[in-house]
Amino acid sequence: MNSKTPLHTALSPALFHLYDASNAIVVIIDVLRATSTIATALYNGAKYVIPVDNVAKCIELGKQINCISAGERDGKIAEGLQHGNSPFEYSKAFIEGKILVLTTTNGTKLLQLALDKGAQHIVTGAFSNLSAVSDYLMAQDQPVILACAAWKDKVNIEDLLFAGAVINRVKNKFSTNCDSSGIAEAIWLEAREDLYGFMKERRASHFLRLTKFGLENDIRYCMTPDLANILPFYEDGKLIVHGSMS
Ligand code: MLT
Repeated sequence: MNSKTPLHTALSPALFHLYDASNAIVVIIDVLRATSTIATALYNGAKYVIPVDNVAKCIELGKQINCISAGERDGKIAEGLQHGNSPFEYSKAFIEGKILVLTTTNGTKLLQLALDKGAQHIVTGAFSNLSAVSDYLMAQDQPVILACAAWKDKVNIEDLLFAGAVINRVKNKFSTNCDSSGIAEAIWLEAREDLYGFMKERRASHFLRLTKFGLENDIRYCMTPDLANILPFYEDGKLIVHGSMS
């Protein structure tokens, strides 16, 4: 009999409905680049981040409150917005003390889907905050869903790699015996010495898309552990740094 707490990996938003989100910590994962950017903005002192699932809402909120409204579609700054989804846009000098309203192709959309499916305990994860996420999960006693934002419902490599890295760190506490978690950890073990090289060699789809836009530095940053090691925690429509006052 296995009495450990279950941890599941949803490889894409299209599979998210298969898991019970209402009683789990849902870790929203969008390594390239939404959840890396969210961690970075908060790490650099953003007051909070409001994730929204569409551009119109983002523009509207930008008019209503004093904030930076930003977002991308298909990897480029979305029409009608001045700022995009690169972690390098959110330096301390730029974002400290400000509110960021962000919409992205997959990441913020999945967060909204998780809310629609009844999730009540949501954090976001990327390599930028790998240790913060893993340590937090280890300290809780609740089932976990590692939810990959992937790309338009199709599985992607980078979110799988991050799920695998987390599983590798927390597996002693959780029961991770589902095939998707097994696949994630196996790929992580194969790739961990050189994540960038692995993505390049496998011609990862979003790696190629961002490379075409000249965003190799974004990819390298997003694949490096713990550069913005805080935990974004969802509360009352906002992502705040866990443990801070919103
Ligand atoms: C997404 O949400 O799909 C992204 O973060 C895309 C990107 O800006 O690279």
